[in-house]
Amino acid sequence: MTTEPPVGIHDLTFSTTTLVLTHDELARHTGANPAKYRHGIGQTSISIPTPDEDIVTMAAGAGAPIIERHGKDRIRTLLFATETGIDQSKAAGIYVHQLLGLNRNVRVVELKQACYGATAALQLACALVRTDPTQQVLVLAGDIARYDLDSPGEATQGAAAAAILIAAHPNIAVINAPSGLYTRDVMDFWRPNYRTTPLVNGKKSVDTYLEALTATWHDHETRGGLPLEKLRAICYHQPFTRMAYKAHHHLLKTTGTTPTLHAIEGAVAATTTYNETIGNSYTASLYLALAALLDHDTTLGAETIGLFSYGSGSVAEFLTATIQPGYPTALRTQAHQHAIATRTRITYDTYRQLHTAQLPTDGQKHQIPHQTHGPYRLAGIDAHQRHYEASSPRSLASNSAPSPTPPPNRECHESGGHLLRRDP
Ligand code: CAA
Repeated sequence: MTTEPPVGIHDLTFSTTTLVLTHDELARHTGANPAKYRHGIGQTSISIPTPDEDIVTMAAGAGAPIIERHGKDRIRTLLFATETGIDQSKAAGIYVHQLLGLNRNVRVVELKQACYGATAALQLACALVRTDPTQQVLVLAGDIARYDLDSPGEATQGAAAAAILIAAHPNIAVINAPSGLYTRDVMDFWRPNYRTTPLVNGKKSVDTYLEALTATWHDHETRGGLPLEKLRAICYHQPFTRMAYKAHHHLLKTTGTTPTLHAIEGAVAATTTYNETIGNSYTASLYLALAALLDHDTTLGAETIGLFSYGSGSVAEFLTATIQPGYPTALRTQAHQHAIATRTRITYDTYRQLHTAQLPTDGQKHQIPHQTHGPYRLAGIDAHQRHYEASSPRSLASNSAPSPTPPPNRECHESGGHLLRRDP
């Protein structure tokens, strides 16, 4: 009798944008109490893309160090989950496939179901690897969360891409069965094709998130999943990091446990450190929470953790993963901290200009000024076709060994249509 090898997360990393808007700067102009942002929603800053950054450049930036470390020859599938796609037909992953120089004998597909898409991709990837454990699947999850200016969602914007390598005998975490599932047709957050920002019923979305958490937990439990006390920590989808606290409070009550602050912080605090400074990254958010947990705590070997994935509309899944004893050697903590610390701080005025700027749609040839710090950039648009290039101020290895860094959080201002750097 043959036994199936364990399958799961072999490598995990993320990239974010070049620019950052702090919530203190936002509060100075919206009139909100900074304590509402910091404590009420649990956010301190928002990653903002330059005009030459998008989901493709972020995802390629996240995927490159994974290819650098593991090679490309075992990758037979690339799955890109996003809800801020750049084309209604062509998969964004094909641009990433080209930028990363992946082999031609690869299937590339884009998946969408709001913030849940990456978890669907992860489960599909695990299923593919179980059919042929010599294969690996590169899962990418990238989004730019943009809400209307002056709307309640504005403070929860953000942007990032996660890259996850799924393989047999993984270095980081084995994905377990069973998981709990839930789907219900609900209009809490959606974005019709003709809109660049979503329509949101914020309070309803929080309620439907919690309703889906209860339902997935019960499904997980009914199918023989581990009890809550066996889970060392839980990574929740974090549209804003306070949501993880609300969610765990809710789950403790659902399971008949008294929700103490100590228990809630113990389960979720370490998972929020990247998302609180990056903001919502939709599909990537849950996997940034996992990266934060792993980077923060190197004593998780052989422990099982929970992951709750929620995508408005809505689809949700509660799954568990068992952390592998050798995982600290696979971590990319320094690179993650570097990506966050080297963002350039922008003013509120620059933020508003960037928010309202649109890429041209006239079919003419347009070049985009080089502004990103990242290794890939959107160089221009010509005849309705996007052109990407390696911009490489840093080598592909930079995600594991950062090159000399620019001063952290430098300021930027807008002049003559170009973002110019101003010395701190
Ligand atoms: N000090 C401390 N806390 C303060 C405060 C102060 N000075 N002032 C206000 N607060 C607290 C409030 O008491 C409140 O706490 P509770 O939620 O615990 O009651 C919190 O700050 C937020 O305040 P409001 O309720 O007044 O917030 P708001 O009207 O600005 O809206 C929001 C909050 C609805 C989440 C809004 O940001 C939003 O619409 N966000 C987008 C939708 C979203 O993120 N939904 C989450 C679930 S859907 C999902 O997960 C998918 C996804 O990624 C989008």
